[in-house]
Amino acid sequence: MAAENAGGRLIIEGGRALAGAVEIGGSKNATLGAMAAALLVPEDCFLENVPDIEDVEQMARVLRSLGAVVEKQSAHVLRLNAASLPASSPPTELVVNLRGSFLVMGALLGRLGEAACSPPGGDVIGQRPIDVHLNGFAALGAEVSRDGEKFVARAAKLTGATVFADYPSVLGTQNLMLAAATARGSTTIVNAAAEPEVQSLAQMLRQMGARISGAGTHTVVVEGVPELHGVRYRIIPDRLEAGTYAIAGAITGGDVTVRGACLEHLTSLIFKLREAGVNFEAAGDTLRVKDGSQLKPISVQALPYPGLATDLQAPMAVLLTQATGVSYLHERVFDNRLLYVSELRKMGAEVVTTGTTTAIISGPTPLVGASVRALDVRAGAALILAALAASGRTEISDIYHVDRGYERIDEKLRTLGAVIERA
Ligand code: EPU
Repeated sequence: MAAENAGGRLIIEGGRALAGAVEIGGSKNATLGAMAAALLVPEDCFLENVPDIEDVEQMARVLRSLGAVVEKQSAHVLRLNAASLPASSPPTELVVNLRGSFLVMGALLGRLGEAACSPPGGDVIGQRPIDVHLNGFAALGAEVSRDGEKFVARAAKLTGATVFADYPSVLGTQNLMLAAATARGSTTIVNAAAEPEVQSLAQMLRQMGARISGAGTHTVVVEGVPELHGVRYRIIPDRLEAGTYAIAGAITGGDVTVRGACLEHLTSLIFKLREAGVNFEAAGDTLRVKDGSQLKPISVQALPYPGLATDLQAPMAVLLTQATGVSYLHERVFDNRLLYVSELRKMGAEVVTTGTTTAIISGPTPLVGASVRALDVRAGAALILAALAASGRTEISDIYHVDRGYERIDEKLRTLGAVIERA
């Protein structure tokens, strides 16, 4: 993130069992895709259940830089209008801090026949290439080139094709769906990502008139249509926010009810938490997490969906510091997403990493308050979980990372009984 946005601290007095209910908001990553989709049509698009977070603000700035109107109708409803799009290239300084901003490429290419964008920034969690996106645009007939720091894609009219994704990239799949929605003919994305956020974008595009099948599997078929129309779309619940609060209940030995979640999207987490000895009641859109005091060690692999989400890998690691025995954790999506371990060690965690993708966690270790730094949104959330379980006072700096992805996390935790203040 830009230095001017940096900073923010949370002070947490840990060691209290959390209790009560927390309402889950809309998915950050589904919202970013939905906002990009609004660029495909000249009519109004309304998005409901949009989380009130910094990444959404940032994406709004990107869209406005292209000429689109993005207006908050209320705390969680956005109106977007892209009737006029005088620009087809967002300024670099806006895109370097937000990986999701690269989704404007697929949407602009589909709508205007050209787009240019600098490589997007994002969290420091490993190499994050964009070959899936660019190779996919080229397979659809776009001429892809580089102009200084920007990638440029041009096509008078995209033509459907079979596209093979080297990796089932979430944003890559979304970008190709955006581009292919109005292409001439049929596009098949082979080795597509199946994440709920991909399914959500497909659902919104279908409501806009697109013909998309297979979202949620690894083969997505997009039959191009001549044009799309505006839509009112409700963003899906944030599975990562839900997972974070569920783990907060478990790690503090509390009794936390997570409301408004989509349990189907949390299957892997529920299985792994059960295996670790966490007690649950799961029904409808509610998950009640009770008594995580008898935790067992487990082996965890972060994988593409429906595997356990990489975004919940760090929160799981923190939970496993409280299990009796040795747990193994393998990050298989990103190649450098264990950097938070050094911060966790400052709080007394016994975690050994071998290479950059495997962590061996010994427990239970009594965590103690310390001064630590949030390195990215999920690493920051993991430190908050550690602080809630720790004895004494923890000060977490650079909390802006967490605010990018979690709405009012301090307030929500306070209603569950946490002692947490901003500084
Ligand atoms: N990859 C490639 N080639 C590509 C693109 C990706 O090899 O062209 C590889 C990456 O190197 C990585 C793996 O694919 O090893 C996964 O990357 P992916 O492209 O799926 O991630 P992303 O689309 O950039 C989204 C989320 C991330 C989430 C990942 C994985 C958004 C805005 N971001 O990123 O969310 O971790 O999918 O599920 O949707 C977060 O919310 O904290 C976050 C980082």
